[in-house]
Amino acid sequence: MYENMGVAIIGCGGIAHAHCNTVLAKDDTIQLYMYDVDLEKAESMCQQYSGAGIFDTYQEVLSSEKVDVVDICVPHDFHVPVTIAAARAGKHILLEKPIARTLREADQILKAVGDSGVRLFVAECWHFYPSAVKSRELIDQGVIGVPFLIQANSLQYHTPPEWRAVKDKMGGGVLIDRGIHFINYLRMLGGKVESVSATFNHQTIHSMEGEDTASLLLKFQNGVTGQLTVSWATRTAMNWPWLAVYGSEGNMYDTGDGFYVQSFINERYNDKGKPVRLFDTMLEDYTIPAEMEHFVECMRSGEKFKVTGLDARADLEVVEAGHRSVETGKFIYL
Ligand SMILES: NC(=O)c1ccc[n+]([C@@H]2O[C@H](COP(=O)([O-])OP(=O)(O)OC[C@H]3O[C@@H](n4cnc5c(N)ncnc54)[C@H](O)[C@@H]3O)[C@@H](O)[C@H]2O)c1
Repeated sequence: MYENMGVAIIGCGGIAHAHCNTVLAKDDTIQLYMYDVDLEKAESMCQQYSGAGIFDTYQEVLSSEKVDVVDICVPHDFHVPVTIAAARAGKHILLEKPIARTLREADQILKAVGDSGVRLFVAECWHFYPSAVKSRELIDQGVIGVPFLIQANSLQYHTPPEWRAVKDKMGGGVLIDRGIHFINYLRMLGGKVESVSATFNHQTIHSMEGEDTASLLLKFQNGVTGQLTVSWATRTAMNWPWLAVYGSEGNMYDTGDGFYVQSFINERYNDKGKPVRLFDTMLEDYTIPAEMEHFVECMRSGEKFKVTGLDARADLEVVEAGHRSVETGKFIYL
C-alpha cells in the first residue's frame, strides 16, 4: 500500500524521541516531519533526527499532501481534538496510548475514525513485550496446563511533571498512564474481563493529583484471576516480577532479568525440576521499536494492526472500571 510514506510527529516530547529512535527515522522510504505547539521543540527534533521538515501549524500538517500519517504524541487531554481533526482530514493515525481519558472520549475518536475510513493504530508497546507474547504461545501449546492466575507488576519511583500531575489532563493517575500497558498484556493472556475490583493509594507522590499506586483484581470470563500492581511510589532496589502466569501443570515468570518457564508435563521446560530460562527480559528498548516496525509493516501490507482502536478501548474500559470500583467500593462488572 505505502512504499513511501510521509509521517508527521505531532508533539515532540518524551515519547516522540523514542519513536524517532526506531524505523520511523531510520528508513529512507519514510519522510519524517515534526510539529509541536512549541515550534523550537519541533525544530530541534527535526535537526537531531535529520527530519524532512517542520510545520508551523497543525492545519498545515493536515492540509499537506506530503503527510500520509500523523503520529500523535500529545498529552492525554489533546488526544480527542488532535485525533478527530486528523481523521476528518483523511490522515491515517498512529496514536499514543491511552486512546483517550474516558470511554466517552474514546467513542468520539472511534466514530470519527469509522466515519472517515482512515486507519488507526494505538501505540501500546507492551503488546509486543516478548515475555507476554511467548506466554500466550506457551499457554496455547498447553505447556503449563490450564492457567488460573496471571500477575503483572510495575514498581517504580517517579514524580510525574507538568500535565501528568494534573488529574483532569491525565484522566487520573498512575493507572491510566502506566497501568494501562499491563492491562493490555493481562487481557492478551487472560481474555475477556468479567469484573474489576480496585484500590488506590496516594500517600507518597504529593505533587500529583491522581493516585500514585493502583492495585487491581480482575476476574476473566474463563475464570482466570488477574492481579495488577502499578506504582510510582515504590523505592525498591530489589528485582520484582513483571509477569507471572501460574497454571495447573507449570508456571512462567519474567523476573526482571529473564523469562523462565517451568512445566511439569513438558521436559523441554523442566531442568531437573527447575525452571528453564528462555531469554533476557526485554522492556521498552525492545517493545517501542517492535511496535513501530509492526505499524510500518501493516501500512505497507494492508494487514490488520495488532492493537486496534477497539483493543485500546477495552484496555481503557478496565481503567474506568478501576476508577468506579474505588469510588463505590464494589466489584464492577463489564
Ligand atoms: N508507550 C510508552 O511507553 C509511553 C511513554 C511515554 C509517553 N507515552 C504517551 O505519549 C503521549 C505523550 O507523552 P510524553 O511523555 O511524550 O509527553 P511530553 O509532555 O513529554 O510531550 C508532549 C509534547 O506535546 C506538545 N503538545 C502539547 N499539546 C500539543 C498540541 N495540541 N499539538 C501539538 N503538540 C502539542 C508539547 O509541547 C510537548 O512537546 C501520551 O499519550 C503518553 O501517555 C507513552
